[in-house]
Amino acid sequence: MYHFVKDSFPKDFLWGSASAAYQVEGAYDEDGKGPSVWDNFSKIEGKTFKGSNGDVAVDHYHRYKEDVKLMAEQGLKAYRFSVSWSRVLPKGRGEINENGLQFYSDLVDELLKYNIEPIVTLYHWDIPQALQDEYLGWESREVIDDFTNYSKILFDKLGERVKYWVSINEQNVFITHGYMMASHPPGVSDLSRMAKANHIANLANASVIKAFREGGYQGQIGPSFAYGPAYALDTRPESVLANENVNAIMADLWMDVYAWGRYPKFVLKQFGKMGLDFDIREGDEELLKAGKPDFMGLNYYQSSVVTDMKLEEKLEQSGPNYSGKKGTAGQQGLPGLFKSAPNENLETTNWDWIIDPQGLRIAMRRISSRYDLPVLITENGLGEYDKLEGDEIHDEYRIDYIRKHIEAIQDAITDGVEVLGYCTWSFTDLLSWLNGYQKRYGFVYVDRDETDAKELKRYKKDSFYWYKKVIESNGNEL
Ligand code: BG6
Repeated sequence: MYHFVKDSFPKDFLWGSASAAYQVEGAYDEDGKGPSVWDNFSKIEGKTFKGSNGDVAVDHYHRYKEDVKLMAEQGLKAYRFSVSWSRVLPKGRGEINENGLQFYSDLVDELLKYNIEPIVTLYHWDIPQALQDEYLGWESREVIDDFTNYSKILFDKLGERVKYWVSINEQNVFITHGYMMASHPPGVSDLSRMAKANHIANLANASVIKAFREGGYQGQIGPSFAYGPAYALDTRPESVLANENVNAIMADLWMDVYAWGRYPKFVLKQFGKMGLDFDIREGDEELLKAGKPDFMGLNYYQSSVVTDMKLEEKLEQSGPNYSGKKGTAGQQGLPGLFKSAPNENLETTNWDWIIDPQGLRIAMRRISSRYDLPVLITENGLGEYDKLEGDEIHDEYRIDYIRKHIEAIQDAITDGVEVLGYCTWSFTDLLSWLNGYQKRYGFVYVDRDETDAKELKRYKKDSFYWYKKVIESNGNEL
């Protein structure tokens, strides 16, 4: 679809940037914080790149004023951050750690001082270790009430100042990595446990949204979903069908539940044939339907290409590329359903992520058409090596990436998609869960590496100044 003239970005468009607690805060055991599953998981040998962890991260906990000042200098309209559940409730429930809660209250005040809209994520993968030990975290229905009560503490404390809430970040990622690929906590590979934990996370998500509505809090709430559309490799109907399969399993399986409160029939049937039981009980559907979000949060990094995979076919299994050595990522697939293929038309990053701005437009269009919900882009960005030269970082590759994705957003707006805002990933450099500190995403370079936190000095990259102009011109100067 081509347009002679493009629509402008809405006047109140939220030009933002994002982060997550474990990836930036550090202070992992300070001021009464309890451990989260990531505090422990990252210390198991071989689990993360060069054993990197978030003990110190980029020390945002102590330097948040300096970071927010940089955001203000850039002119950010919104900052998305997550709350560490075990900083607020060290045991996951029960007694509140007032110091921890105060940190987030102070951060919100600091943002508002500069007219930066806080977008608060309630859960970005760091469930309290205490709840994992007590009842296996997301595998027990007890977590539904605990997550809801924790969220209500935040609604009560911050609700008059915060207008945008993200309930759960990328449920599809932490569930598949945690229970299938074993690369996130709890580090198991068990599809049956995965199916049940995923259903419970859906119920918890709905319960929090329902509590938000019933509590009469002002503002909007929705989940953030990691979605990249898939394309069929070729015009063979087999490839087209494989594309149907992957979209149902990787996208509809989650977003249908968020938006409509029900699972896609096709997936229920196929998972049932594999012996996977979601353990859907009486009353569940009612709760899911009561948790309809105000917007769909979209985390977009790349699209994919698929073709058919025969039942007896075996893939040469080498996992994702966590090393930053281009060309080392393996193929993925589910026998009988689909397998991935390279996209010969597009470039990839050093971590083999496909660079596809039009994929963002397509994702937005599909969400808008299928669910009739506004889209809030809660993450998008380029993870790359950056080089500090003197006190400068010339990251023109990042500018190019973000520019093209903003153009795609403007195209989607012109097509007819309602978009609330755009949060780049990320504001400062931060810990990439499995890729250490060498895969950088920020507008602000933080001088540290996997083994040496150095002085954690902040440097503005070229992209910092470029995005400042984008914001000033409300997207007219790209
Ligand atoms: C998203 C997460 O999956 O992608 C972020 O919400 C993450 O927390 C980001 O950092 C980029 O992924 P990665 O693996 O490159 O850090």
